[in-house]
Amino acid sequence: MRIDIITVLPELLESPFQHSMMKRAKDRGLLEVNLIYLRDFAINKHGQIDDYQYGGGAGMVMMCEPIANCIDKLKAERDYDEVVYMTPDGETFNQKIANQFSLKGNLIVICGHYKGIDERLRQLYVTREISIGDYVLSGGELAAAVFVDAIGRLLPGVLNDETSALTDSFQDGLLSPPVYTRPEEFRGVKVPDVLLSGHEKNIQEWRHEKALERTKQRRPDLLGEDN
Ligand code: ADE
Repeated sequence: MRIDIITVLPELLESPFQHSMMKRAKDRGLLEVNLIYLRDFAINKHGQIDDYQYGGGAGMVMMCEPIANCIDKLKAERDYDEVVYMTPDGETFNQKIANQFSLKGNLIVICGHYKGIDERLRQLYVTREISIGDYVLSGGELAAAVFVDAIGRLLPGVLNDETSALTDSFQDGLLSPPVYTRPEEFRGVKVPDVLLSGHEKNIQEWRHEKALERTKQRRPDLLGEDN
């Protein structure tokens, strides 16, 4: 999978893909993330990529030409499955959407800033608009990092234990059950006996029960029981 991220702040996105699973994905040739500096497509020598909004009001708008020229150049080099725009008014990202995107080949991701991008770019270029939650970030970069991480770790061969993504929270519509490691007792609190029993079937049943219990308590909406 190849993901080209268009950004005015590439520095913000350098570290997130150099560690842990994203580094492994890259080292194994499973995920290539390219940071494309939008100012290289600025409309003048001052590096301008934004302008005042028509109709007045505070806040700059990212202009059509730099982003359009950047995408045109990328599209002339290869085909893309989606052009994604990170924006708080997009569809709310979740595990199901991450699963869908993990099946794609090439993606362009646009990080917005200020008041966002000119609406015509959304009409003409963007195929999917993604929000990572109901709050506003200073720009789309951190949202893009979240989006790419959630997708990248799902690519087959990225996680060591192929089954571990399958037991993640949300993957089966439930939150994950509690987990424990050594020691067996910590400050008077013991690991549940069943986990020490070696009885595989009982352990699986216990985990399912706890996952259900936790989901009921914390996220009844996942079970369709909140209203
Ligand atoms: N840009 C600013 N806020 C955002 C959000 N919540 N999700 C995606 N992109 C954003």
